[in-house]
Amino acid sequence: MRKFFHLIAAQKKKILYVLLAAAVLVQFFRPIRNLGSSSSPQDITHTTSVPSDVQAILTKSCYDCHSDHTEYPWYANIQPIGWWMTDHINEGKQELNFSQFNTYSISRKMRKFHHIEEEVEEGEMPLDSYLWIHGNAELSPTQKKLVIEWAIENRMVLEKQYPDSIPKKRK
Ligand code: HEC
Repeated sequence: MRKFFHLIAAQKKKILYVLLAAAVLVQFFRPIRNLGSSSSPQDITHTTSVPSDVQAILTKSCYDCHSDHTEYPWYANIQPIGWWMTDHINEGKQELNFSQFNTYSISRKMRKFHHIEEEVEEGEMPLDSYLWIHGNAELSPTQKKLVIEWAIENRMVLEKQYPDSIPKKRK
């Protein structure tokens, strides 16, 4: 073991160069950007009423991870930060994508409205790691109330219109 540490000490410079070269190299592996249209034909606004105050909250606090269009900060250009963001965006969009909301079945829409209500109520969304940087994306109590009431109202509209599609078991 002692020998090993001596070796490291002797090779310090070389090791540093290798690490530096690796840090430069990873910059060339850039993730694909989420830069689709923010108003796709399948966008939620085409079938669901989204009042402008709710839309403003969703756009500012949710769309970076739950729509087809992310506003990237400059440091998204630095890897591995960019990879890490891409993971969140892909995962967020897979769960809920407002730009593709109309492709969802009626029961899935109902479930998503219910989940929005829950996640916002519990303060789970936006993700904490996002708020470290986007402090102004945090929802105030008034904003939470607006989003929650909007989600409940839209779930109830669907439930009334399509009672047969109400999910039996809510996850
Ligand atoms: C930094 C990215 C990010 C932001 C910003 C963000 N989310 Fe999420 N969201 C995720 C990720 C990742 C998941 C999936 C993992 C999880 O549930 O933690 C998720 C999951 C969800 C789910 C669960 C979907 C389901 O059906 O299970 C809902 C609902 C949700 N987000 C709503 C919102 C709302 C509303 C906002 C804005 C107030 C928001 N999110 C902001 C990344 C984000």
